[in-house]
Amino acid sequence: MSGRIIVNGFEMNCLAHMAHGLWAHPRDRRRGYTGLEYWIELAALLERGRLDALFIADVLGVYDTFRSSPDAAVAAGAQIPANDPALVVPAMAVGTTNLSFAVSVSTSYESPFGHARRFSTLDHLTQGRVGWNVVTSYLPNAAKNFGWERMVLHDERYDRADEYLDVCYQLWEASWEEDAVSVDGTTQRYADPAKVHPIDHRGDFFSVAGPHLCEPSPQRTPVIYQAGNSARGRKFAARHAECVFLSGVVPASLRRSADDVRTQASAAGRAPDDVKILTSLSVIVAEDETAVCRKREELQRWVNVDGMLAQYCGTTGFDLAAMSRSDVVTYRDTDHGQGGAALFTSDVQRPVTVGDIVDSMTQLGETTLLAIGTPVQVADQMEEWIDEIGLDGFNIIQFLTPETFTDFIDMVVPELQRRGRYQTEYTPGTFREKLFGPGRALLPDRHPGGLVRPPACVPSDQP
Ligand SMILES: Cc1cc2nc3c(=O)[nH]c(=O)nc-3n(C[C@H](O)[C@H](O)[C@H](O)COP(=O)(O)O)c2cc1C
Repeated sequence: MSGRIIVNGFEMNCLAHMAHGLWAHPRDRRRGYTGLEYWIELAALLERGRLDALFIADVLGVYDTFRSSPDAAVAAGAQIPANDPALVVPAMAVGTTNLSFAVSVSTSYESPFGHARRFSTLDHLTQGRVGWNVVTSYLPNAAKNFGWERMVLHDERYDRADEYLDVCYQLWEASWEEDAVSVDGTTQRYADPAKVHPIDHRGDFFSVAGPHLCEPSPQRTPVIYQAGNSARGRKFAARHAECVFLSGVVPASLRRSADDVRTQASAAGRAPDDVKILTSLSVIVAEDETAVCRKREELQRWVNVDGMLAQYCGTTGFDLAAMSRSDVVTYRDTDHGQGGAALFTSDVQRPVTVGDIVDSMTQLGETTLLAIGTPVQVADQMEEWIDEIGLDGFNIIQFLTPETFTDFIDMVVPELQRRGRYQTEYTPGTFREKLFGPGRALLPDRHPGGLVRPPACVPSDQP
């Protein structure tokens, strides 16, 4: 795969996202997350670096599996406190013209009608620069926050998500015909009622009458991201996702997952290029190898062990604190996140102990691919993984904010650009056009969202 490398910056509207403890580092700026300046400056930086998008994660509960308590997460600030991810997007859109924004929203707790309206609004306000990371949520505490006694079981969450997306497609794609807005100031008619339709959806999980409250936005459906890596998650991704995030640290197993998603997508009638595949990447880069080692050691000293373990245990459902260091941890189909549970445990030939997992979790960069070295070495590693795994790009995790991004932009981006693997200018248009090419503002006809469009709305000239 020799195209340009897609790169997202990975964020969350919170104090500590993935690298717990590092918010306290004197050069880190994460404590500014509650203010608009933080977001405006971050977006401007990413646009200067020609990153594709800022991807903002979200959770709806606290990590309370580790020691059967939320205390470790709360004390470390591990994804709590956490503010709403969508509300910072319009401010960032004002200060940028090309950077896109992908926001996580859960299909298990938010209503599809309210969600579809919020994302149409964001798509209007950003002029089509918005994506939705579809998540089903893996924290039992989130269920309790939304009135459920317990979390919906893993695979059923995806069944709900399938129907949730079908409802959203009806609202975004089918409710308002292309020429429904036919403004006529003389008769004071804004829209043609014959072309604005209720959806009258009655399914297993949702009942929504419609019509959609928003007029069609530049992309109608936001670019769909998905990051569930279980067998059921990949099946869901193959049907809906336009960008899939694989998790893992072993290139061969990432390759298997990438191939599986592409094969299933093709069986679902989608074209090979309809799905971009990305994985998370940690980067430690400096001008020479001595400086690289110094930087790694310096960052490592700030890791908060309890914060890292709180996130791991909440994500997987394994309470490592209830086991001893020498106990072997074996994979099981947890109702939390199965991709996370498989991260260290999927290779039955190489059993891992609690101690192994704790060591990996507390060593920065061990939960993702880690590109470390000089700009040339980092670019070499990135290119190698792109080809070896069949990736389209990466999602860059921050150790220090915004220093991780600044380092990447100032040192690695010019090297990748010299190699012709990284954009020097943005493609004009919406997020979908920037990813898939001019003329692709809307979902293609072959996507399940494209299939529900009434004939008048079908963009038959799309590539
Ligand atoms: C890059 C990446 C980003 C993710 N972002 C979120 C998020 O913002 N919110 C969330 O609840 N889950 C998030 N997840 C978790 C997934 O949505 C999913 O729940 C998890 O991978 C488990 O799904 P699975 O059981 O199908 O593997 C993310 C996962 C990855 C790899």
